[in-house]
Amino acid sequence: MQKLIIQGGMPIYGEVRISGAKNAALPILCASLLTADMLTIENVPYLNDVITMLNLLGQMGVGIETEKERMTLTAAHLNHLIAPYEMVKTMRAAILVLGPMLARAGAAKVSLPGGCAIGLRPVDQHIKGLQAMGAEIEIEHGYIHAKARRLSGAHIVMDIVTVTGTENLMMAATLADGTTIIENAAREPEISDLANCLIAMGAKIHGVGSDIITIEGVETLHGATYRVMPDRIETGTFLIAAAASGGEIYLKETRPDTLDAVLDKLMEAGAAIESGPDWIRLKMKHAPKSVNLRTAPYPAFPTDMQAQFMVLNSVATGTAIITETIFENRFMHVQELKRMNADIKVEGNAAIVCGVAALDGAAVMATDLRASASLVLAGLIARGETVIDRIYHLDRGYEFIEQKLSMLGARIRRAT
Ligand code: UD1
Repeated sequence: MQKLIIQGGMPIYGEVRISGAKNAALPILCASLLTADMLTIENVPYLNDVITMLNLLGQMGVGIETEKERMTLTAAHLNHLIAPYEMVKTMRAAILVLGPMLARAGAAKVSLPGGCAIGLRPVDQHIKGLQAMGAEIEIEHGYIHAKARRLSGAHIVMDIVTVTGTENLMMAATLADGTTIIENAAREPEISDLANCLIAMGAKIHGVGSDIITIEGVETLHGATYRVMPDRIETGTFLIAAAASGGEIYLKETRPDTLDAVLDKLMEAGAAIESGPDWIRLKMKHAPKSVNLRTAPYPAFPTDMQAQFMVLNSVATGTAIITETIFENRFMHVQELKRMNADIKVEGNAAIVCGVAALDGAAVMATDLRASASLVLAGLIARGETVIDRIYHLDRGYEFIEQKLSMLGARIRRAT
């Protein structure tokens, strides 16, 4: 098993390019199932989740050509309409094949994802929406079996705001007979990125970026070339690396307009931030100030940045309350951070973080993707050596993380 070894205490200084967004690339790869034509996708990050998704699509019969960050997918013939448990359990986003597969091929068998480290994460909203569009769905032996001659447009009001739920239904609706309205849709920028890709493929979608998305179904979609948006969570993670270590960073090929809530909180913590359309510069001159925050669906503060911000608060002046409203079990990094001298108490869905003068290096264990990122950040600012075990979580979602951090002055290496 691979580990990351970090010698802490070096401020993060320099310039880094932000990769394509994992959470936009994954649904966009699945959009290839909606057409027999070639879909060329640019700026696809090299991540384990992307590789898992390509393996899944390949098994279904999608032809795949890759050339660095550019991929061409052709789903001319779909022959194996199954997403097996082995794949869905390692990457929940595999559920995103359900909507497009059903819409295009009229059938799909997708494993139920089951629980995961950060919470229960059911998929009832995906199923409810597809049933409203006329799909016959049965759950048997842990699998969703879905069938439909052709999906019909429907008026769907989501009970809760779900990102992949909205994406699955939006993709399915592009080929349905008639108009679908999704109310209480999630508004994450990655959903808009997927919608823009679908529009480039000939889909008729209105209300992109709002919580009411209207999709007029068409007979077929065609090929297109589409560039994936930059990763806002990778952006936020590097910003916190610089802020927590008292450094200065310039991020290029990013999208500050997708990070308003995170940038506001960083400024509240005392960071000086400048930005242009595709760049952000952050400078931290003083020790950070504690900042209260509450995660919620976009445009509020993202749950995927909660663990990282906790590290900043753990060395800030004062006490802060971090409230997690999206996932019920997303504080697993707390126990590990406490091993590094952080002063954090969890009460229900709130973590009370009292800033300490310094964190201490320790052996810690990564438990999920964003928790792993928080441990890397903690290791960067801690006194002495931190060894992070189970970093396969990190490789699911951060491209070339140790190379990028090394270029910024961090002393970090991978060991087996
Ligand atoms: C997506 C992101 C993930 C992010 C999360 C919340 C991808 C690939 N992943 O995950 O990085 O942390 O959004 O921003 O884009 N829920 C239900 N029923 C459903 C669906 C969801 O109860 O049918 C609940 C979940 O358990 C959770 C909440 O809704 O409590 C939000 O989950 P959701 O937005 O669906 O998360 P994902 O799309 O899985």
